[in-house]
Amino acid sequence: MNFKCVLFFCASISMVYTEKKFNLKQVVILSRHSVRTPLSKYLNVMTPKTWPSWNEKMGYLTAKGALLEGFMGEYFSMWLKEEGLLPVECPTKEDFYVYANSKQRTKASAQAFVNKAFPDCNITVHHSGDIDPIFNPVIHNDSTVFRDIVISEMTECLESLNLNSSYEKLEDILDYKHSQLCVKGNMCDFTKDKNEIINVVKGQKPNLWGPLKISNSVIDAFIMQYYEGFPSSSVAWGLLNNILQWKSVMNLSRSYHNVIFNTTLVAKDIAKPLMNYVSNLFLQNDSPKAVLLMGHDANMYTLLKGFDFKLYTLKNQLETCPVGGKIVIQKWFDVVKNVYLLKIDYVYQSTDQLRDGQKLSLSNPPQFELLRLENCNTDNEGFCLWDDFVKILKGL
Ligand SMILES: *[C@@H]1O[C@H](CO)[C@@H](O)[C@H](O)[C@H]1NC(C)=O
Ligand SMILES: *[C@@H]1O[C@H](CO)[C@@H](O)[C@H](O)[C@H]1NC(C)=O
Ligand SMILES: *[C@@H]1O[C@H](CO)[C@@H](O)[C@H](O)[C@H]1NC(C)=O
Ligand SMILES: *[C@@H]1O[C@H](CO)[C@@H](O)[C@H](O)[C@H]1NC(C)=O
Ligand SMILES: *[C@@H]1O[C@H](CO)[C@@H](O)[C@H](O)[C@H]1NC(C)=O
Repeated sequence: MNFKCVLFFCASISMVYTEKKFNLKQVVILSRHSVRTPLSKYLNVMTPKTWPSWNEKMGYLTAKGALLEGFMGEYFSMWLKEEGLLPVECPTKEDFYVYANSKQRTKASAQAFVNKAFPDCNITVHHSGDIDPIFNPVIHNDSTVFRDIVISEMTECLESLNLNSSYEKLEDILDYKHSQLCVKGNMCDFTKDKNEIINVVKGQKPNLWGPLKISNSVIDAFIMQYYEGFPSSSVAWGLLNNILQWKSVMNLSRSYHNVIFNTTLVAKDIAKPLMNYVSNLFLQNDSPKAVLLMGHDANMYTLLKGFDFKLYTLKNQLETCPVGGKIVIQKWFDVVKNVYLLKIDYVYQSTDQLRDGQKLSLSNPPQFELLRLENCNTDNEGFCLWDDFVKILKGL
């Protein structure tokens, strides 16, 4: 039998059977940078214990982070080519556009992504200025009405929390009673010390000072140690031993982010420039087919609240907005019904995929979690009507 004919036959058969019911038309990927070193300058006053040291500067993407983001790049490139959105050869700037916040960890994450997604393609990672207003998670509204409502919403959220057992666990891990904050600063009890709302002013990121802020800073350091691959005995000094203990302290981290980013008015205000940017990508007809936006957890949290996403849970993950995780907004065309559809997935690496540095592939894909918008009715296949999404975008 003629080999070529057989191949041709196979190819035509597979074309018939893989002709897709849905065609991917456009994608915007909003990503958080990958694994970085801890951010807080004050970790040393929060415990008498010695913190493990890192190779990179404070707040920088680590080598492991670059590796992990490269795996994401490879996977996304494979996926987007398979769906026919991107060409098999190097994408042009009409095909694929990358825009990162100007911090080292976001630029380096985007670079790591494209290096592996499109090797030898000379893709430019765009960024702008020292502080980029599109990504900078600060308040824009300087009216007192706004400030008063925000503070009362944040206070209400704070007062609804019941975190005593999580606080107690964390105090044990830190040996908090012997920390400088306690010994010299007289802040000795997470369950009694006050959480103060700060920086609810134009040009600032709203924040807290007190037990919840301290907790979030140290837990962030623990999570990064875990992802980076520090030995179990040095991650939280070996004192977070099981999933329940992790979940207990992660409640502090989730609560911190809920207070500062998960109240409606402040989230919509902070995320406005980024939401408008995303909106323009979809509403203008000369946009690149795929855009990667590389930002921070603050961008993810505020955009999720700003666009009114429903509550979701990420399986095999402890963070609400994990490092390297991506909100992937997809425009699809339904060939049969002749209609455009929206689908949004959270695509992220599991805690194991991050810690073990697992290469991603079709047989070891990243995790996908369908996201739903409050104002766009999602069907059984995970789609909602594109026109309904357009209404949301136009109403911003
Ligand atoms: C890579 O892209 C930059 C900017 O887009 C351009 O200036 C440069 O000449 C390109 N280099 C190569 C090797 O194509
Ligand atoms: C500031 O917030 C107030 C209260 O929500 C709102 O009425 C006002 O329109 C906002 N101003 C701007 C410039 O967005
Ligand atoms: C948490 O602990 C504080 C002080 O230890 C106590 O005053 C408060 O009532 C406790 N909160 C709850 C919800 O149990
Ligand atoms: C975390 O908080 C939720 C409610 O906010 C609570 O139901 C859950 O039991 C807490 N988990 C742990 C392990 O403390
Ligand atoms: C954000 O706030 C809403 C209520 O407005 C709540 O239902 C949701 O659980 C919060 N998000 C998270 C991640 O806890």
